[in-house]
Amino acid sequence: MAKLRYGLIGAGGCGKGKHLASYSQIPEVELVAVCDVIPERADEAADRFNVEAAYTDYHEMLREEKLDLVSVATPNHVHAPATIAALKAGCHVHCEKPASLTPELVQSMIAARDAAGKKLMIGLNNRFTPWAQFAKKYVDAGFLGEIYHAKCGWKRRRGIPGKGGWFTTKAQSGGGPLIDLGVHFIDVANYLMSFPKPTAVSGQTYSRFADTTPFNPNASGYTGTYDVEDLAVGLVRYANGCTLDVEFSWASNVESSYSFVELYGDKGGLKFEKGKLSLFGEAVGAQLDSQPTLPADTAWGMAESKHYVDCILNDKEPLAKAEEAVIVMEIIVGLYESAALGQEVRLGGKPAPATRRKSAKK
Ligand SMILES: NC(=O)c1ccc[n+]([C@@H]2O[C@H](COP(=O)([O-])OP(=O)(O)OC[C@H]3O[C@@H](n4cnc5c(N)ncnc54)[C@H](O)[C@@H]3O)[C@@H](O)[C@H]2O)c1
Repeated sequence: MAKLRYGLIGAGGCGKGKHLASYSQIPEVELVAVCDVIPERADEAADRFNVEAAYTDYHEMLREEKLDLVSVATPNHVHAPATIAALKAGCHVHCEKPASLTPELVQSMIAARDAAGKKLMIGLNNRFTPWAQFAKKYVDAGFLGEIYHAKCGWKRRRGIPGKGGWFTTKAQSGGGPLIDLGVHFIDVANYLMSFPKPTAVSGQTYSRFADTTPFNPNASGYTGTYDVEDLAVGLVRYANGCTLDVEFSWASNVESSYSFVELYGDKGGLKFEKGKLSLFGEAVGAQLDSQPTLPADTAWGMAESKHYVDCILNDKEPLAKAEEAVIVMEIIVGLYESAALGQEVRLGGKPAPATRRKSAKK
């Protein structure tokens, strides 16, 4: 059987460290081409992974190479145009998180997928971890009962990626840690809860670390801009009455850096924190805590890329669906809108009525 002809768009940290590193180990895949707007990066990645062709223009790569499968690991604002171009060229696409900058742009990627009859998967690697896969089965088996509240977050003490580069330039990234880190754990929390319908969000963002240390002129896509938040907090309300509390920071004066997801059910609870999954419940009249023994996590992206190749070869639906990415983007963009307005926002775009009303005319 012919191997899947593979190309990468965006040969930076994630493109090389996750996509080339994982796809290069999958026997059914042949690495054919890499593309980066910075020629030295494209060449360096091609040399390192023994890839024949290096391009600086993805349109040219898609025209010349007749690829079957393409990864998109560019700055976020390039995800939608590059994904749509690759789908139109007849490729299956593995696009990095966040899927794009807005729910509408993700919808346009879905429309291109459907028109092309190809597959599209979003790079939400946390779903593929042994802990998340165990937790999903545990929740679906009913051990938590009804989930009525959840929390998720990723707190970094000092971890602003590429200060002054594309990550800190809102037009290119879509925002700071809420979209960068938040997309992972807002996605996992919703996945574990089977994506209840979000109805309203209330958020606040802070930017307190823009001027504390010099900007990094070597940051990828340097613009010298820092117009995003470094801390975002918020609350999501769902149609089923459940709530989700979120907190994401690139920099804050907290004790340590860690990510977490916590689910509160009326029969049991679950907490993933600092790499450990704990389960809380009751048995024979006592409170009972336990920790499952799980296999070690495989290399970054390996389980996800293997899964995607299996989906392509055996016509299965990818686990990380673009339709779910639309919901996650609605929550994230809604939280930014709420922070800007200073009030709760109903999803669908309409702000909730102001809490302090003018007294009605008699
Ligand atoms: N899933 C994860 O765990 C994870 C981790 C890190 C980054 N990411 C995501 O991967 C993407 C890239 O992040 P990164 O850290 O690798 O950034 P990066 O800046 O290291 O790499 C991005 C690369 O894309 C190139 N590029 C920019 N515009 C391009 C274009 N039009 N065509 C081709 N190449 C282009 C840049 O020159 C750069 O080399 C982001 O969307 C980010 O959110 C995901």
